[in-house]
Amino acid sequence: MKQRILTGDRTTGKLHLGHYVGSLQNRVALQDQYDTFILLADIQALTTHFENPSLINESIYNVAIDNLSVGLDPEKITLVQQSQITSIAELTIFYSMLVSVNTLRHNPTIKTEAKQYGYDDLTYGFLGYPVSQTADITFCKANLVPVGEDQLPHMEVARKIVRRFNDLYHCDVLVEPQAMLSSHSRLMGLDGNAKMGKSLGNAIYLSDDADTVNQKVRSALTDKNRITAKDPGNPDVCVVSKYHEIFNGEEYGNICEMCREGSIGCVACKKKLSAALNALLDPFRERRAYYVAHKDEVKELIHAGSAKANAIGNETVKEVKEAMSIYLG
Ligand code: TRP
Repeated sequence: MKQRILTGDRTTGKLHLGHYVGSLQNRVALQDQYDTFILLADIQALTTHFENPSLINESIYNVAIDNLSVGLDPEKITLVQQSQITSIAELTIFYSMLVSVNTLRHNPTIKTEAKQYGYDDLTYGFLGYPVSQTADITFCKANLVPVGEDQLPHMEVARKIVRRFNDLYHCDVLVEPQAMLSSHSRLMGLDGNAKMGKSLGNAIYLSDDADTVNQKVRSALTDKNRITAKDPGNPDVCVVSKYHEIFNGEEYGNICEMCREGSIGCVACKKKLSAALNALLDPFRERRAYYVAHKDEVKELIHAGSAKANAIGNETVKEVKEAMSIYLG
């Protein structure tokens, strides 16, 4: 039997290039080797966006289509709508006994996000979402979880809960998952911010059209000390150069050289980057157009995938309850 992957995204908006290089690219590369589950994390979306149900609803489709557009094959992967999987809710409650409030309070990603959203008074649901994420990963006994760097603290919570559970109940019901990072697990923003993020306003979306990409790249930060196109530039301090390295590997070395000797200006260099990004995004746009025109098909995939996930999760819950001696047979 194939090993399993489970990973996913919050349904709070569209996915961007940071998601792509951080995780989606790995999902595509591994879909033949692993039995892959892609979670549309709408419960986790509620932790920050509970006051905006229409955004969450729309994003369930957007995030599903983003995943399909990059080349995940619906014949191979399983799309799962988190809120429809009852075992995730059940496991979350059981696991909540095995994790201390302090562990959650000191989770660096929780801290950063709490600051970002301006929470000074955390909800129980928000503080506890790493526990729910552990349920996401373990309902199907996933072995591997391709994620960005910001998710590592949550992976540690998951691994700890799994070990604690198996230890405490003398069993091997749960599988300890491994995180899988990509070589670019954090993509910086074109504005120079350390991270590309929806809420940071610096994202290039997988669904952006070519003109939007061109315009976003035009406004990117370059070497501030470079005044005219003939001045020698320093690619080491230029965000556009970092993007060339990731998205335009073939030309990268050459472009750096031309920048250093002042034989390519920032405008021309940015045009090359836009061209590379649009070449990456074009096939995504084509697939997206199909799914946008066939939304019912996407809905059917989510329904069917969630039904399959429920069958698997219910089995896991049964084993978990038996291990915990709260199942009378
Ligand atoms: N927390 C993840 C994010 O913000 C989304 C997510 C929810 C997830 N459940 C998951 C990722 C399970 C991996 C596995 O991107």
